[in-house]
Amino acid sequence: MLHSAVAEHVHTAAELLKQGKLVAVPTETVYGLAANARNKEAVKQIFVAKGRPADHPLIVHLHAATALKDWAKDIPAQAFALAEAFWPGPLTLLLKKADHVDSCVTGGLDTIGLRVPAHPVLLQLLAAEQLAVAAPSANPYKRLSPTCAQHVMDTMAGKLDAVLNGGDCEFGLESTIVSLVGDSIAVVRAGPISAEQLEQVLGQKVETPEQHQVKVSGNVAAHYQPQTPLRCVSTLELNRLLENNRLKLAVLSFSEPSYTTQVHWQYRMPNDAMQYGRDLYKQLYLADQSGAELIVVEHPPSDGAWLAVQNRLMRAAYQEA
Ligand code: TXA
Ligand code: MG
Repeated sequence: MLHSAVAEHVHTAAELLKQGKLVAVPTETVYGLAANARNKEAVKQIFVAKGRPADHPLIVHLHAATALKDWAKDIPAQAFALAEAFWPGPLTLLLKKADHVDSCVTGGLDTIGLRVPAHPVLLQLLAAEQLAVAAPSANPYKRLSPTCAQHVMDTMAGKLDAVLNGGDCEFGLESTIVSLVGDSIAVVRAGPISAEQLEQVLGQKVETPEQHQVKVSGNVAAHYQPQTPLRCVSTLELNRLLENNRLKLAVLSFSEPSYTTQVHWQYRMPNDAMQYGRDLYKQLYLADQSGAELIVVEHPPSDGAWLAVQNRLMRAAYQEA
């Protein structure tokens, strides 16, 4: 049973969405900027609010897997198996879109991203009205994704109608996206659920981003970026940088720091991949706010469990030529 104050807010948020308004909503991954997915004009406002190009597709959030057939067609059996195993949860399925779905939701593609989120507040909202909401992460285009209501307010105030506060996000990184429309099944965005977990359920090979660089609009090199320049460095490079440094540094260290010099701001990241993922955007956000001139991230490991984190760090550090 949800607390009645929350229930009241859920009701208000649902009413706003039904009126075609934009509401930031909590999910277990990051906060989403939601519009009623059946209202074309409302969906278009998402792109305006984020400053996002119109050809970048949105994910539609459903109340239950039973709604899959309302949004997708020619659904393969594997989609139902994955939905059964991982929903509600941080997994987005790419499927052929149903004919009625407006192309503004899918960025002009004939495929659609669908997921059932595992956040009790959002699920209650979706279930109460059988609503489906299109929702990208609730950040300005290319910036850090918000993992709490305050970060949405800080960066999107004035561009949306309400923020539904559901506390801190459990995962802190966006959902795993898996494509079920090509010749093979492929992860197109690494996230909290690994390719191995998908393989275990499906009993078949699932391609991962390295083997299979799928190009989709919205999957851009520079993404998840703080405003302060960011560099990812080895432990050796970090120590060298600290010896010769003249800048105000914000350091997200991984190993036990052994600094002799004073740094402007620092945080030691957790050494568990899930916990690192949960903290990453929040700490980058705080580093960005600290007034540092450069954010330095000490590289975490790069093996399997760290794929989603590595993917975000690479894009956060990417500099346009
Ligand atoms: O965890 C998440 O997935 C969060 C929460 C709010 O659900 N949402 C999210 O949305 O990360 P967004 O828009 O920031 O990222 C979704 C990405 C797009 O950039 C695009 O690359 C991919 O999903 N995508 C969505 N629909 C697609 C489609 N039909 N084909 C290919 N890629 C698609
Ligand atoms: Mg995003």
